[in-house]
Amino acid sequence: MRILLLGGGAREHAIGWKLAHSPNLEVLISAPGNPGLARLGAIVPGFDVTDAEAVADFAVANAIDLVVVGPEAPLAAGVVDALAAAGIDAFGPTKAGAQLEASKAFAKDVMRRANVPTAKAWTFTDVNDAIAHLEASEPPYVIKADGLAAGKGVLVTEDLIAAQSWARLCIDGHFGDAGATVVVEEHLDGEELSVLALCDGTRAVALEPARDYKRLLDGDTGPNTGGMGCYSPVADMPEDIVEHVLDHVIDPVLEVMAEDGIKYKGFLYAGMMLTRTGPKVLEFNCRLGDPETQVILPRLDEDFLELLIAANEGNLPDRQLRFSDTAAVGVVLAAAGYPESPERGVPITGSRELHAEPDVHIFHAGTKLTVDGLVSNGGRVLNVVGRGPDVATARAAAYRAAETVDFPGKQYRSDIAKRAP
Ligand code: AMP
Ligand code: GLY
Repeated sequence: MRILLLGGGAREHAIGWKLAHSPNLEVLISAPGNPGLARLGAIVPGFDVTDAEAVADFAVANAIDLVVVGPEAPLAAGVVDALAAAGIDAFGPTKAGAQLEASKAFAKDVMRRANVPTAKAWTFTDVNDAIAHLEASEPPYVIKADGLAAGKGVLVTEDLIAAQSWARLCIDGHFGDAGATVVVEEHLDGEELSVLALCDGTRAVALEPARDYKRLLDGDTGPNTGGMGCYSPVADMPEDIVEHVLDHVIDPVLEVMAEDGIKYKGFLYAGMMLTRTGPKVLEFNCRLGDPETQVILPRLDEDFLELLIAANEGNLPDRQLRFSDTAAVGVVLAAAGYPESPERGVPITGSRELHAEPDVHIFHAGTKLTVDGLVSNGGRVLNVVGRGPDVATARAAAYRAAETVDFPGKQYRSDIAKRAP
């Protein structure tokens, strides 16, 4: 099979790495890719994956059998639709299906119709209405840009003035069109859990859940980010949670979408809050999570390419997916200034030394290969993943790697998986 993988973060590096284990993979082209993916196949630096026609033309010209889409932006831009029109198979939802992630207001509407438990929400396009609503509400406040903001459009705060300023920032265009509509939500309390499913248009099978750390700093403080670390398996979750989410979240959502003529094919990720009154949805993503993928795929005991082909053909296996009993812990090494204004272009050292270590994976994200060697080129620079028979051992391997890899201004959380039993 000739595969085109869209995206260039650590998630895509992990996807490419897993696909490379499949005997059926002949060619892997990653666009734009990154230096990690360049070790697995060709990369196309600078490629704009949100240009749907360009993606379709490229796939046709390169005789691609299947396009695997990593990030949300190309899905929301209709890349899967353009590829279908060009006769190319692509694994991911259409533009209509991707609205589940691209519009929080759309997702809320689907959840209401599907009877899915979630936080109460109010949407605003007028800043004064949003400000008045917040004034009349109780803290903590939850304010979200409606559209895609790479995980950075959400503020959770006790401070009314900060909450109101965030609503103004969104509506004033800080997140571009994504913030023109603001969603204010009821605050939910509890532990978070990422539950991901693979959907074939009619059915869904679950992957192993993972726990993501969204805040920049230790102790879940600082601004929200795209994710600072992750671990799997998660021991302190209700035993039946995966079945519960499939039955009460994923399946009903797929049914409601189908009623609207949207046959959802691709990954569906439910960000769950385990509250005292039961699991509730925080958000949907129409793709694999980043950094969840980097700890889930190393544990997946399946031929990933076969699985994607089966799902794409509407033919998912009628059984649970196999996962190894081992654990994986991922730590994101971020650039100075992340998430607001990450510094770029600083030299990265130490990653080569870790290549030979069997219990460590180095997944590239914001990196670039220059004549002077590997340099940083984005907010989340590398994702180091440790593996072991249990979370504690995997965690030790991940932190050993986090210390070994170095670049000026490197920042990472020291408490990923620390509380994990
Ligand atoms: P989202 O992108 O909507 O998942 O929000 C990012 C993060 O903000 C979540 O992972 C939570 O940590 C937090 N968050 C979002 N919505 C709520 C809510 N209603 N109550 C409490 N925390 C929330
Ligand atoms: N880890 C959160 C996300 O992928 O959106």
